[in-house]
Amino acid sequence: LEAELTAAVSGAADANALEAVRVAALGKSGSISALLKSLGGMTPDGRREQGPLINGLRDRIATAIAERKAALESAELDARLAAETLDLTLPAPPRRKGSVHPTMQVMDEMVAIFAEMGFAVAEGPDIEDDFHNFTALNFPPKHPAREMHDTFFFNPGPDGERKLLRTHTSPVQVRAMQKTNAPPAAPWIASGQEPPIRIVVPGRTYRMDSDATHTPMFHQLEGLVIDKGIHMGHLKWTLETFVTRFFEVEGVVSRFRPHHFPFTEPSAEMDIGCDRSGGEIKIGQGSDWLEVVGCGMVHPNVLRNCGIDPDVYQGFAFGFGVDRLGMLKYGMPDLRPMFESDTRWLSHYGFSA
Ligand code: PHE
Repeated sequence: LEAELTAAVSGAADANALEAVRVAALGKSGSISALLKSLGGMTPDGRREQGPLINGLRDRIATAIAERKAALESAELDARLAAETLDLTLPAPPRRKGSVHPTMQVMDEMVAIFAEMGFAVAEGPDIEDDFHNFTALNFPPKHPAREMHDTFFFNPGPDGERKLLRTHTSPVQVRAMQKTNAPPAAPWIASGQEPPIRIVVPGRTYRMDSDATHTPMFHQLEGLVIDKGIHMGHLKWTLETFVTRFFEVEGVVSRFRPHHFPFTEPSAEMDIGCDRSGGEIKIGQGSDWLEVVGCGMVHPNVLRNCGIDPDVYQGFAFGFGVDRLGMLKYGMPDLRPMFESDTRWLSHYGFSA
């Protein structure tokens, strides 16, 4: 029987034939199964003698079947590899290419312009504490300005401290100025440095606000310069030079309107001239004004809070709304699609990498 089964196994030409052999030998009414069943009717001595023989036969046949199966499968694969060829001349299916998000593009453009003027880039955490976002920036305790920012607060921690999502990039001013020997809390967090300081801070900011020109998350680019003898003229030159380069138009007119921020004194907002008479906004000159940036001279209290002597050092700071600036430059009517990931909008306004 063994010779007969072994021959049948090695003679099986394909998987189906092999399966038929397996059923005929090891299946419910197969020949080996019948032998195994016959053990039941034997005397104990007969069983002791025949049992090992029959079990051995069953194991050898099962092994032979498994080996034959593996051989058949690899032969089948070889045959397929030999038969199939790849036509490398066929055009590949078109690949959809991503694009740079307009906000990131605008941020890169802004950083590039400031980098040329000698500014370094600093970053800070999105999750801030009250000290960096408000207190160090001269917001008086319980001052309504804290509410004015429509702050997203976290639940207080075990120590009672209430973290928040930063409402502006200004807390990074504090992180950059605070002289500390401690290593930064994370690699992207600016650690304090001695003046002179010249940094820009691109980043995400958060306020509870939502309409055509406000989204709960938006982007700012902060600037900070600290050195000896810094005055408002430096601030004015820096911002005027920036808008001329950013909007790529010569002779952009600008004006500084008095404003209030707790962390700057004096404070101002800079407007640039524009012309809306043609339906869309033309930036440069005209009878209308567009607000583009908040700014001012760093308040002496802020310098003191960060361990810098205001009698030795002065500085200016400014904060741009990045998404807003992008809307103006690229003529987008609504801010919200910036954050909606609609690929039709993205491929219209996106920039190829
Ligand atoms: N942090 C201010 C805001 O978010 C902008 C600003 C930055 C103003 C720096 C002055 C100086 O509105």
